[in-house]
Amino acid sequence: MIGRLNHVAIAVPDLAAATALYRDGLGANVSEPQALPEHGVTVVFVELPNTKVELLEPLGADSPIGKFLESNASGGMHHICYEVDDIIAARDHLSAQGARVLGTGEPKIGAHGKPVLFLHPKDFNGTLVELEQV
Ligand code: CO
Repeated sequence: MIGRLNHVAIAVPDLAAATALYRDGLGANVSEPQALPEHGVTVVFVELPNTKVELLEPLGADSPIGKFLESNASGGMHHICYEVDDIIAARDHLSAQGARVLGTGEPKIGAHGKPVLFLHPKDFNGTLVELEQV
């Protein structure tokens, strides 16, 4: 069921500074910032040869990463995203095994224009897991 690692997301307090760190410090290709109001974040994609890193900055008052940054002031790894072929089948399979799907349980359109879902970190060894249908 699980496919490739699509991305690792890192919450950052200052997107411009984090962009400079990856672009100038690590020499990575870094995208322009993209505002995703529905997800409460502004995102920058760091393109690596085998995967992506997403740098997430809070957008709006009730950003889902606002609380995370309150307790991790310098930022931190926020979630990991795995690719699946069929997000509904994956959701139903995981739900049947007791994993909790966050929000309404229905996929939203993610940063790459594809359906995504998030699974509760308590059901995945303390890691927030995003599933993306590719
Ligand atoms: Co993500």
